[in-house]
Amino acid sequence: MQRYDVAVIGAGPGGYVAAIRCAQLGLSTVCIDNMRDHNGAPSLGGVCLNVGCIPSKALLESSEQYYRAKNHFADHGIQIGSLELDLDTMMSRKNNIVKTLTGGITTLFMKNKVVWLHGQGRLISNKQIEVVLQDDTTDVVEASSIIIATGSSPATHDDIIIDGDRVVDSTGALTFEAVPKKLAVIGGGVIGLELGSVWSRLGAKVVVLNRGKQFLSRIEPSIAAEAYRLLQKQGLGIKLGASVKEVKTTKKQVAIVYKDAEGEQKIQVDRLLVATGRSPNSHGLNGEAVGLNVDDKGFIEVNDHCQTNLKGVYAIGDVVRGPMLAHKASEEGVCVAEQIAGQSGHVNYQTIPWVIYTSPEIAWVGKTSQQLKEESIEFKEGVFPFKANGRAHAMNETDGMVKILSDAKYDRILGVHILGPHASEMIAEVIVAMEFNASAEDIARTVHAHPTLSEAMHEAALAVDGRAIHT
Ligand code: FAD
Ligand code: NAI
Repeated sequence: MQRYDVAVIGAGPGGYVAAIRCAQLGLSTVCIDNMRDHNGAPSLGGVCLNVGCIPSKALLESSEQYYRAKNHFADHGIQIGSLELDLDTMMSRKNNIVKTLTGGITTLFMKNKVVWLHGQGRLISNKQIEVVLQDDTTDVVEASSIIIATGSSPATHDDIIIDGDRVVDSTGALTFEAVPKKLAVIGGGVIGLELGSVWSRLGAKVVVLNRGKQFLSRIEPSIAAEAYRLLQKQGLGIKLGASVKEVKTTKKQVAIVYKDAEGEQKIQVDRLLVATGRSPNSHGLNGEAVGLNVDDKGFIEVNDHCQTNLKGVYAIGDVVRGPMLAHKASEEGVCVAEQIAGQSGHVNYQTIPWVIYTSPEIAWVGKTSQQLKEESIEFKEGVFPFKANGRAHAMNETDGMVKILSDAKYDRILGVHILGPHASEMIAEVIVAMEFNASAEDIARTVHAHPTLSEAMHEAALAVDGRAIHT
């Protein structure tokens, strides 16, 4: 039996970051993970690096460049004789990025002296983990503290079989060998819109079937409405209130029957992506036997400090409550490592940003106007459109807007919502501002370089007080 200060189960952005931070704080640390790359080799980084954030963003970037070359280069006076898509190279580029970054974690583990065990971990007690190693032998690891960071997997449906060929989950949709002629996506959430955009830009006729009648129901309504219009204009078909009744797969086709406001509809596609949410990986941990509390949806129950009901056992990331986001998982990892080392780790759940990497990107932090109304909080709002921003014109990307919501009395920023180019980068400014309890006036009185997209944030802050200059 090997003994450590800390054992981490899972090496995604929650687990690997927790392990590195523990090691930085002088704790002997082992990280147990069962992920393999597309060639079957053990690979660190979890879903995010192997089959999530990184490969999807690599394909979003490549497909966006292709789409621009095809549809928008001529606007800049650039004529391309003939444009060809080389999907094999696009996929190799994505795989190489994944390999570089997952290999980077291996190096970081070595540098920080984190021990990596490739295998399946299960709890024997609050101090011991049994690990089934690659060669099917078992090992037992003992640790004073355990961090569970086992992540999540695509939600499954009894009546839809993911065969990995015609019918795929997000992992399958990152590895198509050819552009599907017709692709249906069940689920109009983050994965449906991002991966639907990738294949639509590359030439597939994509239809997204969403059960809910409201598009992106949890985001700021005016941003959702504009994003809905823009994505459809780009060619992404989105059917709202579409309830799937039947999926039948033949060798070459998938027949889908769904019902929407216009009645029963039948479509035939050559590929189907099922993206209806993700489920926490709490099974397989032997949690029941050791008395680990799990809620009815499978999330491991934790308090505000990510402590489970078992003494010395913590849980972080997708396997616990809160948004299923890589940066949330990592922050919880740091927070728990610091607590174990006797420090006071902390995560501010009020300032976790969300980004949907469509084009234009959608990014937000804090409350929506709908939430503020529901909570009877009086607020002011300032909106500034990118069509009045010089840099956006230079880039030929004038769609979208910035919206700032601030407290009616004290002007404290309560929420910021962006639809526009590089929204993912722009949101960082207001997260820092919100961490310092800034007011919209603080942003309004901050000098922003010209010409930049960030001037739209500045002007939205001025607009909160009715004094935007360029609208
Ligand atoms: P994971 O990354 O899921 O890692 C858990 C690890 O634990 C895995 O390696 C798993 O194999 C391993 N494991 C599970 N059980 C065991 C066990 N019993 N023993 C040993 N090992 C085990 N989030 C963002 O913030 N930005 C994005 O752009 C983004 N894009 C995404 C795109 C896609 C297609 C998908 C699917 C997800 C995306 N996400 C994104 C979500 C993000 O990937 C997750 O929130 C994040 O990976 C969660 O991190 P984690 O450490 O909790 O778990
Ligand atoms: P999601 O929760 O974002 O969206 C699922 C959608 O499917 C919802 O709109 C829901 O109404 C719909 N739906 C559910 N069941 C359905 C059914 N039977 N028929 C039709 N529609 C149905 O989940 P998604 O897209 O699978 O992503 C999972 C999570 O992964 C995200 O919530 C997010 O946490 C994370 N993620 C984050 C990304 C980012 O940060 N950019 C990118 C991709 C994933």
